[in-house]
Amino acid sequence: METVILYNGIEAPVLGIGTFMISPEDTERSVYAALKLGYRMIDTANAYMNEESVGKALAKAIEGGIVTREEVFVSTKIWATLYENENAVEDTLKRLGLEYVDLLFIHQPAGNYMAGYRMLEKAYQDGKAKSLGISNFHDEKLEMLLADAKIKPHVIQMEVHPYCTQKEIRERLSEYGTRTMGWYPLGHGDKGLVNEEIFTKLADKYRKSNAQIVLRWHTQMGFITIPGSKNPDHIRDNGDIFDFSLTDEEMAEITKLDGTKRYYQADNAQEEKYATMHLPFEG
Ligand SMILES: NC(=O)c1ccc[n+]([C@@H]2O[C@H](COP(=O)([O-])OP(=O)(O)OC[C@H]3O[C@@H](n4cnc5c(N)ncnc54)[C@H](OP(=O)(O)O)[C@@H]3O)[C@@H](O)[C@H]2O)c1
Repeated sequence: METVILYNGIEAPVLGIGTFMISPEDTERSVYAALKLGYRMIDTANAYMNEESVGKALAKAIEGGIVTREEVFVSTKIWATLYENENAVEDTLKRLGLEYVDLLFIHQPAGNYMAGYRMLEKAYQDGKAKSLGISNFHDEKLEMLLADAKIKPHVIQMEVHPYCTQKEIRERLSEYGTRTMGWYPLGHGDKGLVNEEIFTKLADKYRKSNAQIVLRWHTQMGFITIPGSKNPDHIRDNGDIFDFSLTDEEMAEITKLDGTKRYYQADNAQEEKYATMHLPFEG
């Protein structure tokens, strides 16, 4: 597995399994299958309601001698309604059954996100998070956060795929060495993206699937990629992208798609709603 080094020296795999909109049962199965296949990164969130399943799959893989805790990079996200809850990090670790996570995000630029980020900084100082992240931040709220953050984010997680590479935000954050982790790497199942002619052409050339070409492009762009899947064949294929390389010309050809589509357009009103959307386990 290829890895990158975050600016604080922490090593992170460039590919992991995503778990958004995957039921607890499927999450446990998929994460365990992924670990068996050699994945060493898992991305979850308070809001996905499957952190316990991630923890169970990881515990089973550790028990079975497949991995050690230290070999697996676990990222999760504190939801916006919990930014001022002093137990949020501890409760998250309890759900995961872990003593620390490798990467801890605040999930949305909503509500009192600075209180949320300060909670992350404390978790980092206490050894409960090995690195810190922000998710979905942009424009003014990104600037406010950067101005106030004592520990600049090691990672930003945001929508990234060939239609939308977020060049401006990436360039803004390059000053700090903040890495990009892309969500919706395969367009959240949009066949229109995966079946773009360029991917079919390259899939023929390299004897790979279109999805594998898209994921290889992500890693060669320097992105950390976390395709979500509950299909064992897809999980296997998505991890099998390190035995070929796209040429500079092919990378440039794919990047011509940039700027043509976004699946999610954030606005302030929507973001502020997140701060009132309580999660079932909050009671
Ligand atoms: N921070 C945020 O706000 C945020 C938002 C969204 C997502 N995320 C994170 O990013 C991860 C990735 O996003 P996502 O899961 O929504 O979208 P995605 O990875 O772009 O796409 C997932 C979809 O692609 C299909 N798929 C996966 N591998 C495939 C393959 N090899 N061939 C064909 N289809 C394939 C999956 O179906 P099958 O199950 O049938 O394989 C699923 O329908 C999430 O799981 C989550 O961890 C974060």
